[in-house]
Amino acid sequence: MIDYQQIASHPDLKLIGKNIIFRQSVTSTNRVLYKMAENSFGKEEGFLAEGTILIAEEQTAGRGRLDRIWISPRGKGLWFSAYLLPDIPPEKSFLITFLGAVAVAEAVNHLFELKSMIKWPNDVLVKGRKYCGILTDTRVSEEKIQLAILGIGMNLNQTVREITESYGPIATSLRIILHRTVDPAQVLTAVLLQLDKYYAYLKEGQWEKIIEKWKEYATFLGSKITIVADDEPFDGIARDIDDKGGIIIELEDGEERVFYSGDLFL
Ligand code: BTN
Repeated sequence: MIDYQQIASHPDLKLIGKNIIFRQSVTSTNRVLYKMAENSFGKEEGFLAEGTILIAEEQTAGRGRLDRIWISPRGKGLWFSAYLLPDIPPEKSFLITFLGAVAVAEAVNHLFELKSMIKWPNDVLVKGRKYCGILTDTRVSEEKIQLAILGIGMNLNQTVREITESYGPIATSLRIILHRTVDPAQVLTAVLLQLDKYYAYLKEGQWEKIIEKWKEYATFLGSKITIVADDEPFDGIARDIDDKGGIIIELEDGEERVFYSGDLFL
């Protein structure tokens, strides 16, 4: 059992992770934390503090990008969400996803001496295999982000058999990568520390710090890729990210096109 109180009282955490709510089983930490945040609006007592983490041992309806299912079995990984109140325009909400991916890549690389890469828009991979996915939900009104929920799912201790039986072809876990089990408390602490650090940059308006780090990890930039958008494949070279987080692809006929949604194949 993870000692969440101990993690939350880590002296270096300033905002994110200072309050951790644990549940054994939820539908989706993103969904439940979103509801909790909405319900706490305008209340003086019992309001939800910014930076609160909701973490669950299992999710019965974990959600991925593009309405996919995120498999979240009991005790096999970290399934958690952070409640954020970023003062950024709605078209910059990609920065929240980016900061999640950067935090995971930094934490995992430092802990285990690995070389994670980030695959647009939100996957974290080692040697082409995905061990982490990120999903941001926002509530926007009057051209402002009223609340944001940053959800992170990390496959930690699934075996090769468990992954091949239930997951997609490029999935993996840190256990498979490292050939040993990993300590969830250690990984969670490291990720929260990085989240806290990069979220402070976001709050201070230093967005370029997040984008620069993201690009450092996005080693696919400059390479030939295929993007599948609305079931249609496009081949080209991934050139850059635009100011709304879209990916700029130079297509084979030389035309540059920006995609805001889709799956990238490296
Ligand atoms: C993806 O790669 O498609 C995104 C996966 C995001 C999964 C996490 S697990 C915690 C949080 N709660 C959810 O339902 N989804 C996110």
